[in-house]
Amino acid sequence: MTDDTFAPGLENVIAAETRLSHVDGEAGELVISGFPVEELAANATYEETVFLLWNDRLPDADELDALRDDLAARRDLADEAYEVVRAAAEDGADAMDALRMGAASANLGREDESPEEAARTAVARFPTVVAAYWRTREGEAPLSPREDLSHAGNYLYMLTGEEPSDAEVRGLETYLNTVVDHGLNASTFTARTIASTRSDVVSAATGAVGALKGPLHGGAPGPVLDMLFEIEETGDPEAYLRERLASGERIMGFGHRVYRVRDPRAAVLSSAAERFYEADGDGEFFALAAEVEETATDLLAEYKPDRPLDTNVEFYTSLLLHGIGIPRDLFAATFGVSRVGGWTAHSLEQLEADRLIRPRGRYVGDADRTWTPLDER
Ligand code: COA
Repeated sequence: MTDDTFAPGLENVIAAETRLSHVDGEAGELVISGFPVEELAANATYEETVFLLWNDRLPDADELDALRDDLAARRDLADEAYEVVRAAAEDGADAMDALRMGAASANLGREDESPEEAARTAVARFPTVVAAYWRTREGEAPLSPREDLSHAGNYLYMLTGEEPSDAEVRGLETYLNTVVDHGLNASTFTARTIASTRSDVVSAATGAVGALKGPLHGGAPGPVLDMLFEIEETGDPEAYLRERLASGERIMGFGHRVYRVRDPRAAVLSSAAERFYEADGDGEFFALAAEVEETATDLLAEYKPDRPLDTNVEFYTSLLLHGIGIPRDLFAATFGVSRVGGWTAHSLEQLEADRLIRPRGRYVGDADRTWTPLDER
């Protein structure tokens, strides 16, 4: 049967069966491997989350210990992979380009691993790539990963050289769990398409980094933070936002392709950020952000009455990551450090389904041209 329906952004096309996550854009609900995102974010370590995604159940204590040890033992990169990341940083590459180059060489020396092992290698090594890039860019030597720290704790340690506080680790873990998977978004679909050719998991994750890099996907939280700083300086959220909207600009951190109500991840990250700023940080900055959110949603309803526009995940991502001490330029790459858990799980699921993803294009070109010799053109 041939169906000629054309959906240029593949909207509403179902291209995979998945047990990994479900997004309900009308109700504003996200389920990850059976758990509402609020439940997962509040309780899981990142290691538990990736076990859940890879196995469709929670680990028992022995299984969790074994996974923690295995991931910790895989963190260090091959010397040549450190060289690639160092060259990227010294060449002025941005963090996402460096992550793409580092991801591509993440399994150097381990090319024969099974898909399940390659998934663990990719998840274990993404933080090492990002941290090595950052230290080099800052003029410092990369730090060797520490096997005694958790996945999230070790990432923070490799960035700063200091052992993070429990609140920082928990804050980062909440973020990593909240954004780990989100339906068939562009980077996840990319990963599945690559896996569908029976290619390998590291290739799938590397391609997905390329998709995540684009400003329509992973690039918004940096600009959200810039906006909050600018508003802090002017002291007048409403005037600032009105000026933006009147000149036709988009307000970063609002609107979504799927959600028509507030993104459920915004609530999770907002509570985490609030707890964090009240305990460890700057309560006034959080209060300013909450005021900006309220003002922006009111003004968006005024300027765009036909389109429901509410807060998306990136608004409080910027606040939480900034509070934890993740540099602004690493926000998108830190998204990748989380999402690689989802990409690898989708790759394994697609390998299992073993169905080549191969849509059709609608041909709109000519069909009856005759060849003109070069000297007559
Ligand atoms: N600020 C102001 N207006 C916005 C807006 C925003 N953040 N998001 C959408 N709109 C407006 C558009 O200008 C458009 O208005 P128009 O019909 O008068 O031209 C209308 O809403 C529909 O926009 P459209 O681009 O079709 O929606 P989309 O589903 O393709 O866009 C996003 C989704 C996320 C790309 C979009 O909302 C956006 O650019 N948001 C800001 C960037 C951001 O926060 N990205 C992170 C997403 S998690």
